[in-house]
Amino acid sequence: MGQKIRQRNATKKENLEKNSGVEKNGLQNVPKRGRASYFKFFFVTAGITLLLQQYGPDVVHRIFFRRNIVPARSDYYILRDIWTDEDIHNLIDYVKDLREFPTTASDLTSVSEHIGEAAPFDEKGQCPFLLVPNQNHSECILPSRIDVAQHFLKYGGRDCLKELYPSLSSRLQGFAGFIFDSLNSSVLDRLFKSQQYKDAATASCGGMTVFDPIQLGIIVLLPGQTVAMHYDVPWYWGATRFNIPQWLLIAMESSGLFENIRVRQSQGVAYLHKWLNHEKDGGGFYFYPKGTGGRAEIVPAEFNTGLVLDGSVLIHGVNTYQPKKLPPIINPSDKNSLVYAGDDFWQLKANDEIIALYKTSDLRISLVWRSRCFESQEMKQKWADYKDKIDVQDVLKVLKDDMKLKGISNVDYLPPLDLALKILDTYVVYPVEKCSIFPWNYCMLSKIVPTSVSGFINSLLTPICA
Ligand SMILES: [Fe+2]
Repeated sequence: MGQKIRQRNATKKENLEKNSGVEKNGLQNVPKRGRASYFKFFFVTAGITLLLQQYGPDVVHRIFFRRNIVPARSDYYILRDIWTDEDIHNLIDYVKDLREFPTTASDLTSVSEHIGEAAPFDEKGQCPFLLVPNQNHSECILPSRIDVAQHFLKYGGRDCLKELYPSLSSRLQGFAGFIFDSLNSSVLDRLFKSQQYKDAATASCGGMTVFDPIQLGIIVLLPGQTVAMHYDVPWYWGATRFNIPQWLLIAMESSGLFENIRVRQSQGVAYLHKWLNHEKDGGGFYFYPKGTGGRAEIVPAEFNTGLVLDGSVLIHGVNTYQPKKLPPIINPSDKNSLVYAGDDFWQLKANDEIIALYKTSDLRISLVWRSRCFESQEMKQKWADYKDKIDVQDVLKVLKDDMKLKGISNVDYLPPLDLALKILDTYVVYPVEKCSIFPWNYCMLSKIVPTSVSGFINSLLTPICA
């Protein structure tokens, strides 16, 4: 009897060992059924991952960014062989002679700097999140292009970058010099009077042939920097960047409510950096020829080529220049500038302190110019003589009335900062690239949570965010 029980137990043990994969020699093998489950799990996971990679971003877009589809309203034209070698040499000297380039965040030209959102510096001399110092550094206001900055920080640009605020905002703060007068120069004349430019500008202006040069800008990017997607600032009879904050002008344009007073314009971009290898260094000019729902088209930042388009109705920007490099940290609350120091060297300065040094050949340099377009010399003269100004509050009233018609009823009670953000949210739409199933830049989380937990969130995010 006892022997039978021992035999039964031995058989049971053998069966158990067989099923569990433990063999007599003590080695543990994966059982056949377990191995099948493992393969099944692997293939299902791989399949789901592939499906998510392939279709996930598209599904996310269909769910969250459906309203982001705005058709394009303009065309573009490419210019080639614009200048001679001597012209380029003179233009580079011209750029160096300008000597000091502030960051694009300092591009404040309006006498009405804000709509009431101005706030004081904190005890450490820093501006509250989203705000930057005003022209004379007496208070903090929304950056003139908060529409651009907000979208870039939220989605990390076209590359869906997941980076913390210091790094991402440094990428955004390229350097710009704008000249609103003294546009007369024989080198520039060669461009503006060339037939290819005239043809392109006429086509871009819808057939208008009288141009009124507005502005010549020199945009300088450091390695790792970008020009985030944006609309150019529009011009209206009575409402310009000199009396209305730029972000509000963008909202006016995107709302379509001020079309009857809009002045058409054309933008040209040309590249001066002979040293830039556009295949290796990136920095291509991109735009959305089919509107925000279509794919971006990229034109390489090839030396001595250019583009003409109406950037106030066609979203455009610059891919990251030398994308594998991180730019130096540029604190927007500081007074930052890029200064030519002679001998082909440039100093990056923060509050007059040198924080980095560059050679001219490290920089991506482009010329950007804009002209208003008129159907006749009389209309051009009328613009020059026009003195009426639209008040910021009148613009806000038109937008608020329209927002109420759209069902946004609380606009009269919103604090100015919230009103500004609501206006941008309602009217200014930029595309979100399908480069990630999670296009939001989660690294900015610490900036939007209550300050009591922001430090903790930041410490969690720092190891995984650049
Ligand atoms: Fe632009």
